[in-house]
Amino acid sequence: MPKRRAGGERESRVALLHAIAHIELNAIDLAWDLIARFAEETPPRAFFDDWVAVADEEATHHGLLAERLTALDAAYGDLPAHDGLWEAAAVTADDFLARLAVVPLVLEARGLDVTPAMIGRLERAGDRESAALLRRIYQDEIAHVAAGRRWFEWVCKRHALSPVETYHDRVRRYFKGMLKPPFNEDARSQAGLSAAFYAPLACHSRETAAE
Ligand SMILES: [Fe+2]
Ligand SMILES: [Fe+2]
Repeated sequence: MPKRRAGGERESRVALLHAIAHIELNAIDLAWDLIARFAEETPPRAFFDDWVAVADEEATHHGLLAERLTALDAAYGDLPAHDGLWEAAAVTADDFLARLAVVPLVLEARGLDVTPAMIGRLERAGDRESAALLRRIYQDEIAHVAAGRRWFEWVCKRHALSPVETYHDRVRRYFKGMLKPPFNEDARSQAGLSAAFYAPLACHSRETAAE
């Protein structure tokens, strides 16, 4: 897949919004999948309330992005899409802790790291509508990461596991590669995700730093 870049060109903005719309569509399915697949772990009612709310917000995000694509004379489905999120879902289908560690607490947290720069690029390109939409999504995603962290810790507590050590274990086993800095420490800490979780898993190669 080509790298996503939000430049001044309409095509590059469409490519960016299309890629995010695809992530949001997968995120709807992933929230429902979490509810259905791991219900046998018998989490409390609040678990289901949280993830139904997440699914609802992901659907709103997808819908708003699809509308924005229409306004830019494009449509969701026009472009090929990256399958990374769904691959992560398949790999973690048998492990509740791995699913929570990799999907909300690696991939959605990564969204918090990269979104502010995307918003900045869209603003510099004069696309205020798209920038405002990404800003709204960014705020909602902080709460999704927080829900992931809350339920990850709940499962850990139930099995008398250390959340930080268990996170390291599951990410190393189920997520290919290291976590890419720089991290959005402010947004991550708003979601209750302290550096103890992610800093030890960060890669520090020059190649990655240049990306
Ligand atoms: Fe979303
Ligand atoms: Fe989300």
